[in-house]
Amino acid sequence: MSKTKLTIALAKGRLAEDTVKILEEAGIDCACVNDDSRKLVLTNDAGNIRFIMVKPTDVPVYVDHGVADIGVAGKDTLLEADLSVYEMVDLKIAKCRICVAGYPNAKRNMTSSILRVATKYPNIAKKYFSGKGETIEIIRLNGSIELAPILGLSDVIVDIVESGRTLQENGLVVLEEIAKASGRLIVNRVSLKTKSEMITPLIERVKNVIRERENNGND
Ligand code: PRP
Repeated sequence: MSKTKLTIALAKGRLAEDTVKILEEAGIDCACVNDDSRKLVLTNDAGNIRFIMVKPTDVPVYVDHGVADIGVAGKDTLLEADLSVYEMVDLKIAKCRICVAGYPNAKRNMTSSILRVATKYPNIAKKYFSGKGETIEIIRLNGSIELAPILGLSDVIVDIVESGRTLQENGLVVLEEIAKASGRLIVNRVSLKTKSEMITPLIERVKNVIRERENNGND
């Protein structure tokens, strides 16, 4: 019988690297999560913790279905997915802003009364603009969103802004800020009850790590 007690979903890429550092500081052996490996399921030496490496947008899906007990996902991904997972800790990593961006006069130069919004976050965009009573058309893209207003595909974009470099180098600006985002530790609702003896202390240790990092000015 498998000894695995806890499954943790990590978003492949930089978010996973920063998460692993925090988990290690919280006393969780993550040595099996190795940058060079292409393995998608990794188990620690003790055999009690399993890591699954998934696409960032899929982390909440695995946790919501209980395939993973715990996961780390960006707040942008969580807002977009809008699933029933518990958001337990703000890890204060991968900080960014979810923004409406475009050319400085984007809204004034619109050719029709319907704002065309290009985005990989259709749910966030719909909710935000409907809250303001604005009628929009969503143009769903998967990347390089900044190209849309440049090529006339949309009036504005809804996207994450981290350093601001992509906008700047393409002549675009932030027009409105929708929300701030960062990496969050999420937990499956059932796992929190059935595996509380493992999950609750782990969350407390992670919270302590974040507090210490903040006190040391490392957040
Ligand atoms: C994200 C986002 C912006 C960029 C913002 O794209 O969609 O394009 O990062 O970062 P910055 O403010 O530091 O420039 P990502 O790198 O994920 O690639 P993508 O265009 O393929 O989505």
